[in-house]
Amino acid sequence: MTQEWIKALDLEKKLYHPYFEEEERFLKEELKSGMLIDLGCGEGRISRQLQGLYTHYTGIDIDQEVVDKLNRNTPYNVSYQHGNVCKLDLENGSFDTALCMTTYANFGKNLTQMLQETSRILQDDGVFIGSCYHEEALDKRLELYSRFGDIIKSINEHGHVTFKEGMETEISCQYTKNQIKEQLKNAGFYTTRIEKSGPFYLFKGIKR
Ligand SMILES: C[S@@+](CC[C@H](N)C(=O)[O-])C[C@H]1O[C@@H](n2cnc3c(N)ncnc32)[C@H](O)[C@@H]1O
Repeated sequence: MTQEWIKALDLEKKLYHPYFEEEERFLKEELKSGMLIDLGCGEGRISRQLQGLYTHYTGIDIDQEVVDKLNRNTPYNVSYQHGNVCKLDLENGSFDTALCMTTYANFGKNLTQMLQETSRILQDDGVFIGSCYHEEALDKRLELYSRFGDIIKSINEHGHVTFKEGMETEISCQYTKNQIKEQLKNAGFYTTRIEKSGPFYLFKGIKR
């Protein structure tokens, strides 16, 4: 997954890079300083981008290899852990902000579990910021996937794409604004901001 994402970043500068600029601005405006957790952190770009804006950054990723590599050279207030963000070995209320940038699309039926777990580890009034493909992103996504070859197993009527076995990720989803608001609400978050950026929605919820 991480390797595919790194390849995608490289291949799809046109598709993703305007989004990354807007994502950085959004994060800098909405981040609550203090303890920050990055769920499905990939190669750690967010820790570098937001340096100086958090007391401590924890990146979690299911890809052991990428976590080991990142941990070889980290600043004193940055750490990476291997784990599944749907089941975190972290204390209740231990973070001020949780991020789930683009990885939000990859949970499929486990999305509720991820959001409930995120809500558990955030303090009251904690901030959740995420991004995910929007309801009109399918064509752009298919353009991207075609560059990786014949990798799609199925596409359903909601634009949820299941990948063939052997891929590092199983599923990639897209959602409407209302679906995202509802998903956040069901996990105890109140959506305060949601906007389109390239093929993504960028959004913020506050734990109530
Ligand atoms: C699309 S990449 C995004 C990486 C990063 N958030 C970014 O925006 O650059 C998704 C990442 O989430 C990780 N991932 C997927 N499912 C996960 C899970 N259940 N728990 C932890 N990490 C996961 C993958 O290994 C991959 O590195």
